[in-house]
Amino acid sequence: MNITVWADKGGVGKTTLATSLAAELGATLVDIDPQGDAARWATLRGMTAEIPGDRKSLKALLASPGFRVVDCPPGQSSEAITTVEMADLLIIPTRTGEADMVALGRSLKVARRVHPEGKVGLVLNLARDTGRAKGIEAALRAQAGAHYLWLGRLCARVGAEEAYASGKTLLQAGGAVAYEFRQVLEATRALIGDQAAQPISVN
Ligand SMILES: Nc1ncnc2c1ncn2[C@@H]1O[C@H](COP(=O)(O)OP(=O)(O)OP(=O)(O)O)[C@@H](O)[C@H]1O
Ligand SMILES: [Mg+2]
Repeated sequence: MNITVWADKGGVGKTTLATSLAAELGATLVDIDPQGDAARWATLRGMTAEIPGDRKSLKALLASPGFRVVDCPPGQSSEAITTVEMADLLIIPTRTGEADMVALGRSLKVARRVHPEGKVGLVLNLARDTGRAKGIEAALRAQAGAHYLWLGRLCARVGAEEAYASGKTLLQAGGAVAYEFRQVLEATRALIGDQAAQPISVN
């Protein structure tokens, strides 16, 4: 079971989500981003992240038994596309800006092309308390079902940034951050269902 966190766009919260989901779901964290952010977060936490050396070892890892959450770099590198292709669940985070909506369209197109039968979950992240952001959220919620499933919304909060920077999960951040992340976590659990109950890889 592979949960892939990917978006064509940078800085939308891929690593923040991948790290928190891996730790809270008890999955192995896999970092395929040369920036190494997920691996650094894991080090802060005293846990390890798997870093596949090349595309061949990435494919072998993703095809092997285990329960993984993979943090991808932005963009459409062959490694990222392979990881999207081999995902049981693809999670796409997005922000609410104009360019973000264009990038989301690109990400969903890639998902449809390389992952036509796979599940896609959307997380609206770094949402702000503006009329425009609320309008985007309402539209994204309304359009869920055809090309993606709605997993939840995380507002831009200092607590989320601080938790990530100190190797904590968004659940450990407590307060509103934890409340919002719990919705995403539960929606993710519901989507992966029994598969998450399979024996997980020892790591
Ligand atoms: N809900 C949030 N509230 C506040 N800050 C956030 C939130 N989500 C993410 N951030 C912050 O935004 C920045 C970018 O997040 P993150 O690194 O997870 O994005 P990314 O998509 O993985 O970026 P990249 O494309 O560079 O890999 C980080 O500093 C992170 O702490
Ligand atoms: Mg990242």
